[in-house]
Amino acid sequence: MERAYAGTIDESLGDNSDGAVEIAGWRERAVPEASFVAIKDDGVPVAASLVAEGTDNTYWIAYVITDPGWKGRGLGTAVVAASLGVLDDAAVFAGVTDGNTPSERLLTSLGFVRTGPA
Ligand SMILES: CC(C)(COP(=O)(O)OP(=O)(O)OC[C@H]1O[C@@H](n2cnc3c(N)ncnc32)[C@H](O)[C@@H]1OP(=O)(O)O)[C@@H](O)C(=O)NCCC(=O)NCCS
Repeated sequence: MERAYAGTIDESLGDNSDGAVEIAGWRERAVPEASFVAIKDDGVPVAASLVAEGTDNTYWIAYVITDPGWKGRGLGTAVVAASLGVLDDAAVFAGVTDGNTPSERLLTSLGFVRTGPA
């Protein structure tokens, strides 16, 4: 799953070919009870959402990643939907690189709306 960014628009923007490096930066504000992992029968993780706490009672979908071999099967949508289910009525944000179509479609399908550049 650490290769989730390989071949995506975000790979060339930094050291994103190793998703674990990016995720580490969010861990201090992580909300474990709202973060989900989808696992195979053998216990190997194939998709995950990481929720982090923002300011003023807001939350961020810090990351959603799916193993390259498991993309396009609804797993990314499923883990973010599970996160939103726990966060209930709270304000939830997500940052997406322009042109990251899978991520934009995933978030739009779950009700996120574009608010503009960060
Ligand atoms: C974004 C990401 C998590 C989506 O995971 P996934 O498990 O493939 O997501 P889903 O199968 O639930 O599909 C979500 C949407 O993306 C679309 N999609 C999936 N792969 C796509 C592709 N290669 N090109 C265009 N759209 C694609 C799906 O059709 C779906 O949209 P729809 O509901 O309108 O049909 C995955 O592509 C990924 O790990 N990307 C790298 C990490 C990243 O950029 N994360 C987001 C920013 S933190």
